[in-house]
Amino acid sequence: MNHVLCCEQYTKESLEELFVLTDKIIKEPMKYSKKLDGKIIATLFYEPSTRTRLSFEAAILRVGGSIISTENAKIASSVAKGESLKDTIKIVGGYADAIVIRHSDNDSAEIAASVSNVPILNAGAGSGAHPTQSLLDMYTIRNKKGKFDGLKVAISGDLRYGRTQNSLAKLLSLYNDITIYGVSRKSFELPQEYIDYMKKRNVKYIPCSEFSDLPKDIDIIYHTRTQLERMEDKTMDIKELIINKQLLNTFSKDTLIMHPLPRVHEIDEDIDDDSRAIYFEQAHNGMFIRMALLLQAFNKM
Ligand code: CP
Repeated sequence: MNHVLCCEQYTKESLEELFVLTDKIIKEPMKYSKKLDGKIIATLFYEPSTRTRLSFEAAILRVGGSIISTENAKIASSVAKGESLKDTIKIVGGYADAIVIRHSDNDSAEIAASVSNVPILNAGAGSGAHPTQSLLDMYTIRNKKGKFDGLKVAISGDLRYGRTQNSLAKLLSLYNDITIYGVSRKSFELPQEYIDYMKKRNVKYIPCSEFSDLPKDIDIIYHTRTQLERMEDKTMDIKELIINKQLLNTFSKDTLIMHPLPRVHEIDEDIDDDSRAIYFEQAHNGMFIRMALLLQAFNKM
């Protein structure tokens, strides 16, 4: 079964296959517009989403599939009456040919896959993983930098509760001579398990507390918002790390600013027009990567 569950399932070769297919889809979209004709895909979102749900749904429609959906599954599905995730998946798998799921539990995608008779595509699982986000992030990096080996990348903001930076770090760990800087406030540091993961794969990990600790020629700063919804103590006073024009101008003309979005106020709008701020282009790439993932899920390349 062609599930998309976690970053660990990818290799350099399978990433390049996905990226080449995505290039082809962007070049000749009509060639792929009927590939999933007759297929129904369910989108089950137990957490809010703009980009992942709508880009998946646009992707489904753009490759000829149809959608059944619960936009707010936590409230609008029978989970609200106490139904388990496993039972939901068994039922929905009888109606749909694949299931896209976002859930607040880190192991939700694996649990879904363990009982599913159709492909599961993980659209974000708790603070654990967001593989389709990281795939679009890697695709964006490949297109902008033309390489992965030797990159110096800062992941910044909420490294403790976020799922996008640790997923990206895992995919970058496939490559050679990678340095990752983790810029975060105290209590928002990257959990040790991800530091150990990188260490095992010879990634140099350097924790820092300010953007000024970073080298000026850093290739990418991947910033994130504070995940207030996952914090136990929501009253905690956080002096957030902010990227604005003044800060950006301290870095090289080749330093790219990425963000999975949504942003709240951690990236000032005054840098949106700077060519180094590529987060909107990054989000747009998500639809094409998800078209490619859907085609792969059904072996319809
Ligand atoms: N990047 C991302 O997952 O955005 P959404 O929460 O809007 O889907």
